[in-house]
Amino acid sequence: MKILITGGAGYIGSHTIIEILENTNWEVISIDNYSSSSEKTYQRIEKITGKKVTYYNIDLTNLSLTEKVFQENTDIAGIIHFAAFKSVPESVENPLMYYHNNLNSLINILKCQAKYNIPNLIFSSSCSVYGNLTELPVTETTPLNKPESPYAYTKQIGEKMVDDFIKTNANLKAISLRYFNPVGAHKSGLNGEVPIARPNNLVPYITQTAIGKLEQLTVYGGDYSTNDRTCIRDYVHVCDIASAHVKALQKLVEDKNFEQHSIINLGTGIGVSVLEAIKAFEKVSNQKLNYKIGPRRAGDVEAIYANNTKAKELINWTPKFNIDEMMFSAWLWEQNLNKM
Ligand code: UD1
Repeated sequence: MKILITGGAGYIGSHTIIEILENTNWEVISIDNYSSSSEKTYQRIEKITGKKVTYYNIDLTNLSLTEKVFQENTDIAGIIHFAAFKSVPESVENPLMYYHNNLNSLINILKCQAKYNIPNLIFSSSCSVYGNLTELPVTETTPLNKPESPYAYTKQIGEKMVDDFIKTNANLKAISLRYFNPVGAHKSGLNGEVPIARPNNLVPYITQTAIGKLEQLTVYGGDYSTNDRTCIRDYVHVCDIASAHVKALQKLVEDKNFEQHSIINLGTGIGVSVLEAIKAFEKVSNQKLNYKIGPRRAGDVEAIYANNTKAKELINWTPKFNIDEMMFSAWLWEQNLNKM
């Protein structure tokens, strides 16, 4: 079975490719334009798995270039569409960049899915679609609130586009996976997140501060109405996220009666505050982190964590790793990255 991964050189894409190559006999082809990754990722994948990935350097907003991949590979059984911009603050500063890239690339992927008869699609969505919530944990039926950032809005629209489009063609199926906060790295310490510029996400910011690349971490907001006054998130190991993609795609391929478009939360169900995340890091790395409490960040929601029952029921997915293991693997990766 041949699977197309878009954004395969990126953080979640690369871990998913590794999961596929280590646990299935699927063949992988990848498309990436390296806007926030590099071709070197494929060498790391090969080192871990001993297997090669066929890859294309293509911008998915260019339809004719994207189509060439489908014309060259007439036997694709499924697409996992990761490729997107993903920084909440960057999207607040530069919304058009997010609307252009995230929506046009999805439109082109959907056009190709139909034109080249690719039965199955997995779409990377995000818990940011829920906006600010009053009731936690969130289930997939929780009504979506106003998106807090253009990034979040691209994911709300993206899910709706997938839904509307898939229903026009009975031969197509899709699952949208709403990731909570993917963190951590492959257990080998040989693959992880490689922030191209200064990181926006918490965990790479923590590990880069600890290793001395960054001077100090600022905790965004110490005045939320949570227990320790900092934001709460549902951090989930990137390898757990990767395994969910394999299970979701397997389900679509094997279960002909599966719903045409399902939406599934991918989180551990455990809310962790920023200060608790820092404490977990300090424990596993055996060092104190230099941080200060600063002002709130635009676009942030106060607290969010998942109800993950649907993932268990529909695709038999239960996350395996806890916050200490997430931090340990992220720290191992940061130390190895520093030696590269
Ligand atoms: C958001 C989305 C998530 C998406 C991710 C992609 C929400 C609720 N979640 O994650 O679905 O996958 O973007 O990037 O919108 N923090 C600090 N200091 C820092 C960096 C972060 O205190 O230097 C805090 C943030 O305020 C937040 C937490 O750490 O409370 C996590 O932030 P981050 O890692 O950036 O992810 P989200 O913005 O939660």
